[in-house]
Amino acid sequence: MTAPFPGSPDFAGFNEPMRMECDIYDLVVEGEIPKEISGTWYRSVPDPQFAPRLGYDTYLSGDGMVGAFYFEGGHVDYRLRYVMTERLRDDRAARRSLHGRYRNPYTDDPSVQGRGRGVANTTPIVHAGRLLALKEDSRAWELDPVTLETRGEWDYQGKLRSQTMTAHTRWDPQTNELYFFGYEAGGLATRDVSYCVADKQGDLVHEEWFEGPYCALMHDFVVTKEHVVFPFFPITADLDRIKSGGPHWVWEPTRDSYIGIMPRDGSVKDLRWFKRPACSVFHFMNSYTDGSKVIVDACYASVNPFPFITIESGMEYDPMQLHGSLKRWTFDLSRPGDSFSEDDIGPGGDMPRVADKDLMKDYDIGYYAIINPELGPPQLSGPVYVGFNALVRIEMKSGRQTQFNMGNMYVFNEPVHIASKQPGHEGYLAVVIDDFNTFRSEIGLFEAADITKGPIARIKLPVRLRPQVHGNWVATP
Ligand SMILES: [Fe+2]
Repeated sequence: MTAPFPGSPDFAGFNEPMRMECDIYDLVVEGEIPKEISGTWYRSVPDPQFAPRLGYDTYLSGDGMVGAFYFEGGHVDYRLRYVMTERLRDDRAARRSLHGRYRNPYTDDPSVQGRGRGVANTTPIVHAGRLLALKEDSRAWELDPVTLETRGEWDYQGKLRSQTMTAHTRWDPQTNELYFFGYEAGGLATRDVSYCVADKQGDLVHEEWFEGPYCALMHDFVVTKEHVVFPFFPITADLDRIKSGGPHWVWEPTRDSYIGIMPRDGSVKDLRWFKRPACSVFHFMNSYTDGSKVIVDACYASVNPFPFITIESGMEYDPMQLHGSLKRWTFDLSRPGDSFSEDDIGPGGDMPRVADKDLMKDYDIGYYAIINPELGPPQLSGPVYVGFNALVRIEMKSGRQTQFNMGNMYVFNEPVHIASKQPGHEGYLAVVIDDFNTFRSEIGLFEAADITKGPIARIKLPVRLRPQVHGNWVATP
């Protein structure tokens, strides 16, 4: 038998572990799924196999599962499997968690010293035919794209030197190249950052390293057709603190944020640095180069948003301190200095998405999730403890915004965009919606051009799903 999980917010309500792998053939559909939609929507969720070794932990530590919704001919089948990481296999062999504090191996059981700690719980991507489950503190794990069976850790046939690979890779849909980085590339709490490119065959063709201004929690980065942008926000790591059993991350609001920009066909030696006061951006919607200007659209937050990091930094957690917006940052490379301009272009929110055809280019339309305070207090969901209760579509050129919500008892996970084959059609959005009345989940399928009319199809699950981290749509070729 396994020990009970704690009742803390990371393990309560929709955050309560499920630990259930499953196959569901032909999900119940209310409405109609357009026949042209054909493909697979992969989703990553953390789902801890065992109660935390130390009695407490964050949602972000949960063992990774990958779910797949297979859309074909108006039908949807579902499969969910654990990523069988070295860590999960070690824990299962012991029938308990051998792993201690978040990203602190010095708090682990001695029997797993030197063993893999990666949980592969953040983002599933498909590149060059390989399905990879990613988590930024380790290397990728490869899964079979149909059965979701784990094939093993993926290190680009032994070529990858970086010990880590971001969960936020950037894919160029025109060249089919994959751009990525790894922070703590040379080991725990190092300032080493790797910058890597895999070509359209999935071969690693470029890897070089640089030292960041400090060891930061670098969750996302952006790539345009001409530039690469590395952001550093002051959620920082320190090896001595980790060795003494302390937290991996602390929020240091007195330190500046740094943004390094280099030409995409250049080298990390060409990095030019910009800075602003402390802030936090976990996800970027899109970015592009326009002449001498690099435009970066960021889901901005004035402070670190994670309660566990705030508390472990010795600060009081107060959600009212967080001010968010969709910010457009403009870096003018023709001007000297280290400053850049900022404009608020949308309400605060996160989990942004654009159509694949718009990636890395000047674009107009974006989608993301927000908390509409008029609907009432947010529901407990995921690692930040608040669920998004509305979906937004925003037009960058006109500033026009539309929103959709189902009231305060429905939480929206990250949308994916599904392209249409019909000329002039904006495509579709698929979003997992968690129903806090029934504790079940469903997929809402929307016409992307008009989310306000509500889902054109509701694809019902007979169970609740774990709050999603990230997902990706892969169209059937
Ligand atoms: Fe993320």
